[in-house]
Amino acid sequence: MAKIIALAGSLRANSFNKQLIKVAAQGAEEAGAEVQVVDLADFNIPLFSEDVEAEGTPSGVNDLKHLFAQSQGILLASPEYNGSITGVLKNALDWLSRPSKDTNIGSAFQGKVAGIMATSPGGLGGIRGLSHTRDILFNLGVIVNPKQLAVPSAYQVFDEQGNIKDQKMEQNVKDLGAQIAKLARSLA
Ligand SMILES: Cc1cc2nc3c(=O)[nH]c(=O)nc-3n(C[C@H](O)[C@H](O)[C@H](O)COP(=O)(O)O)c2cc1C
Repeated sequence: MAKIIALAGSLRANSFNKQLIKVAAQGAEEAGAEVQVVDLADFNIPLFSEDVEAEGTPSGVNDLKHLFAQSQGILLASPEYNGSITGVLKNALDWLSRPSKDTNIGSAFQGKVAGIMATSPGGLGGIRGLSHTRDILFNLGVIVNPKQLAVPSAYQVFDEQGNIKDQKMEQNVKDLGAQIAKLARSLA
């Protein structure tokens, strides 16, 4: 069975992107994948420095890396900060790209497939950040699905339970999750 790791590039408790990634994860699950939704806030990931790295890879990085290593697919929803990827997501990707002695895992990315999406209160839905995220993942050896999603007006999109109110939009997000499940299955 295909395994997928799903995460948001935000630490905020009520993050819209955390809500978005859960809907995509549901789509992937409904398509038969085993999906683990993780919250970056639950991992001890310090700011990357080669000095910190020289003292040993932090436990939170190793924990997350193990989860990536077990997965064939990645689902990513990230806010756009100043037209680009958030610092917290870039920092996590930088750590995960490094080989670590403790895990015996090289890069956590090579040959995996990813579906990327964003949501923002603004009218563009974070689409500018997605092109940067795509570039970074491409450089890490990830096959990034051509279809991506940027969901504008985030304040109006979700209900109190984090569901997407518009059925067509919900289906679009689930379809992206399902597409990654299908691609990940071919790699499992
Ligand atoms: C430092 C910073 C920069 C931001 N830059 C953008 C931006 O370039 N485009 C945009 O649509 N929203 C921008 N925003 C607004 C975020 O999209 C908004 O805070 C969003 O709710 C963050 O996502 P989250 O709810 O998943 O945490 C920015 C927010 C912050 C804190």
